[in-house]
Amino acid sequence: MKVHVVQNQAEGAALAFNLLKEKLAGGAKVLGLATGSSPLEFYKLIRESDLDFSDLISVNLDEYVGLGEESNQSYIYFMKEQLFNSKPFKQSYLPNGLAEDAAAETARYNQILADKPIDFQILGIGRNGHIGFNEPGAPFDGQTHLVDLAPSTIEANSRFFETIEEVPKQAISMGIANIMAAKTIVLMAYGPEKADAIKATVEGPVTTDVPASVLQNHEDVVLIVDQAAASKLS
Ligand code: GLP
Repeated sequence: MKVHVVQNQAEGAALAFNLLKEKLAGGAKVLGLATGSSPLEFYKLIRESDLDFSDLISVNLDEYVGLGEESNQSYIYFMKEQLFNSKPFKQSYLPNGLAEDAAAETARYNQILADKPIDFQILGIGRNGHIGFNEPGAPFDGQTHLVDLAPSTIEANSRFFETIEEVPKQAISMGIANIMAAKTIVLMAYGPEKADAIKATVEGPVTTDVPASVLQNHEDVVLIVDQAAASKLS
């Protein structure tokens, strides 16, 4: 795992953007994308760039159950605003949060991932070390599945909603095995509230208690953190 400590999110985004350009030049065709505040500056750099994604595929990590593209809290809405409206891909995939049959939806998504292996995966990290919506305890061999969100995740994500009651209690998320199958993984984390999760991810034992610690087993992972998020690293 390579760890880069940057001054701020803008510097981290520039680093991630350069890595992306390198991988695109090397033939990357399938991008794994994440929502959340951590990749915002990265998406802004892409929007302002001359990159063309019309020949590329994107596959997102996760989506809330019960929210569709009309909801401004859904991840499909977020992705359109932040990226897809300015940089359309040939095809963009997200789990369908409105699917009536969750088992059929997760099977559909796993098939997409099997058919279109991810070359370059963007990740954030939850305060409890979750990646995508793989909460502590999620198995390392897990595929796309329906998740009951941890109370701490519901609380952390309530900042994007008017009231905590509006935060969905479930999500559909790629599993850890899907994430680990990506050729290259770039994880961005900023701010002091990520410091414990980053320490456990980088220096702790590889354990399902800290889902992101599994990244120690991947051979091409770049962590981009600011000083606050890195502050507990020895
Ligand atoms: C959510 C998402 C994750 C994201 C995490 C951190 O729970 N499902 O994919 O990485 O939040 O978000 P932020 O970057 O806003 O701290």
